[in-house]
Amino acid sequence: MNLFMSFLLLFLLYTDKLAGLNFNTDVTVTWGQSHVAKSRNGEEMEFKMDQYSGASAQTNADFLFGRFDMRVKLNSPDSTGTITTFYLHSPNRDLWWDEADFEFIGGSSTADYKIHTNLITDGIGNREQQFRFPFDPASNYHTYSFFWTPQQIIWYVDGIPIRVYRKLSDSRILYPDKQPMKVYTSLWNSTAWTGEVNWKNAPFSAHYRNFYVNACVAWRDGSNVSSNCKIVPPFWFTYKLLPLERDMIIRMREQYMTYDYCNDKEKVTDVTSIECANNP
Ligand SMILES: *[C@@H]1O[C@H](CO)[C@@H](O)[C@H](O)[C@H]1NC(C)=O
Ligand SMILES: *[C@@H]1O[C@H](CO)[C@@H](O)[C@H](O)[C@H]1NC(C)=O
Repeated sequence: MNLFMSFLLLFLLYTDKLAGLNFNTDVTVTWGQSHVAKSRNGEEMEFKMDQYSGASAQTNADFLFGRFDMRVKLNSPDSTGTITTFYLHSPNRDLWWDEADFEFIGGSSTADYKIHTNLITDGIGNREQQFRFPFDPASNYHTYSFFWTPQQIIWYVDGIPIRVYRKLSDSRILYPDKQPMKVYTSLWNSTAWTGEVNWKNAPFSAHYRNFYVNACVAWRDGSNVSSNCKIVPPFWFTYKLLPLERDMIIRMREQYMTYDYCNDKEKVTDVTSIECANNP
């Protein structure tokens, strides 16, 4: 794909203006209050992590489909054992939760940092895909996005799609479209998963800004879920991954992918092999 096509694509994706969420009024800190700093205008948020705490926050609103963009700047090295996140998660913590993840895994140098993605629906995950960063994620802010519609979830890095998870007509392939999700962010000690933290390098930090959403705000009425998009469906509701975007995903996979559950004999089942054959 040539540069012109990339710009055309970005133009198409961004023509519909996204609304900025304010970290002071739209986001609540749920852990590590003393390790969170928000700018007075609510446009920036910083998490710190040391031996005493990390931090996490979540949106006040629940959403059922939408586009979610966040600009994130990660820790400088060495940040082995730290994870910085930006993810969607249903507010319920029951067995049937839904979740779509960006988890940024720290390393001893930024070349070792990884973009970890996963999709959990009905409480069933094991759909990890990992990528190297195409840039140094600690020297500048970069935009990470989810575009979640009734048809598919697309993960973007700086407007370039890196992953898609589709809803398939095969009912054995589960898809998160039955319950709302909130947007979460966190910085935490993941020694148990990604290696021991060198606390001499603490405090670690994660910076967030330009939190834009164009999403359907959802609410519950008893067991029924409603959303403003049921009343007035936005034009993007029926958006389908473009063939061009599929090509971009394939290219990104070739260049940057380091792990794919679809190639992991311990993770793939008869059912997931169907979803793997249909994604991207
Ligand atoms: C970090 O996580 C590891 C593994 O769970 C734990 O043993 C360690 O105490 C934690 N360190 C801090 C300072 O929280
Ligand atoms: C929930 O949806 C059902 C089926 O559409 C409807 O009959 C019922 O009145 C709804 N309940 C509420 C509280 O809106």
